[in-house]
Amino acid sequence: LPDRPEIHRGLAGVVVDATEISSVDPASSSLLYRGYPVQELAGTRSFEEVAYLLWHGELPDDAELEQMRAQERARRELPDAVMETVLALPLTTHPMDVVRTAVSVIGAHDPTAEDRSPEADLSRAQDLMAQLPGIVALDQRRRHGLEAVDPRPDLGYAENFLHMVFGQAPPEPVVQAFEVSMVLYAEHSFNASTFTARVVASTLSDLHSAVTAAVGALKGPLHGGANEAVMAAFGEIGTADRVDAWLDDVLARKQKVMGFGHRVYRTGDSRVPAMKAALDGLLAIDDPEGLGAMYAALERGMAERTGILPNLDYPTGPAYHLMGFDTPTFTPLFAASRVVGWTAHVREQLAHNALIRPLSEYTGPERRHVPQGAGR
Ligand code: SDX
Repeated sequence: LPDRPEIHRGLAGVVVDATEISSVDPASSSLLYRGYPVQELAGTRSFEEVAYLLWHGELPDDAELEQMRAQERARRELPDAVMETVLALPLTTHPMDVVRTAVSVIGAHDPTAEDRSPEADLSRAQDLMAQLPGIVALDQRRRHGLEAVDPRPDLGYAENFLHMVFGQAPPEPVVQAFEVSMVLYAEHSFNASTFTARVVASTLSDLHSAVTAAVGALKGPLHGGANEAVMAAFGEIGTADRVDAWLDDVLARKQKVMGFGHRVYRTGDSRVPAMKAALDGLLAIDDPEGLGAMYAALERGMAERTGILPNLDYPTGPAYHLMGFDTPTFTPLFAASRVVGWTAHVREQLAHNALIRPLSEYTGPERRHVPQGAGR
């Protein structure tokens, strides 16, 4: 038999390129954005500052932050074509498909499409960061028969996002928790959706195509879709005293418990403690469905039975629910944040591009001849 190539299914453990944007150290369970631990950024830095850091490599000084804030506020208005497209989609369309379609429409109307400079891509990234909240808000509101709410230029990114979704400025602890989630979701090295974006960019396709593809990858329940699935599981379980029976049943059927496990982290996801603290702040305001008790029981049950720990989607699911978001809107919130990471990676990929094109081992039929006289 010829030597079989070593196969790395799912590219597990394979280092495919270098990046300066973030590092994930599984041993110490740490995630660093451009060298800064996320737990130090979460709660102390705004999403605008973190976006600036990820795009430019350094935290902004006062003047740079002022400029960053001003440009984000100036770009929030949705183009008519995007508004019309979102409103024309059926209510049966999954909100992630709405986001994917909207990003594609933004790309199709890009008046600077011919300009392939890094500066033009940065401007596209800034547009996407500023416009995704409006898309997510418009979509959640239309599902409730509500009119779109105009952005408020006096509000920062996180507060304005919530204002556009709910039509009022929410209480400070809610804004805080939401901002923490946005900061934590922004970037995570070569995860599936970011890698997808880099694959598309590596063909020298355009930034909107890369982001559209990344949204598609993020939708899956093994990736970003898990935050929705966590809430669905809590809904199914109902009360904390039913967690153990539910868990035994799910594990006996060899099903995955959403919001647990990670390809890279084995000793816990470094983002969970900061998000759990934010969730605790929300639970302290009100917890009519007993989510806090279910959260603790499921975490304990999983640890006892499997040793598998929560990932970031576990605390964000109930947190977004308590903030008032509809469950299918959770993954679009992840996308609204991760668009910063995706676009940072697209720009990095293009800065020293190599077409991403791996090999495969062929396991189909042996070489054979097409039968004579058949066909046509
Ligand atoms: C994100 O990559 C990133 O950085 C992603 C992300 C980001 O910021 O971009 O962090 C965001 O995608 C978080 C992950 C969200 N997904 C989920 O919560 C879905 C549930 N989790 C799993 O399906 C799983 O843990 C993955 C997909 C996250 C990781 O899968 P791997 O690395 O391919 O591991 P595996 O599926 O091969 O599991 C290894 C073992 C298996 O048991 P055995 O067959 O060896 O006996 O662990 C078990 C699995 O069955 N296992 C689980 C489990 N996760 C792993 N069993 C039950 N429930 C789980 N959640």
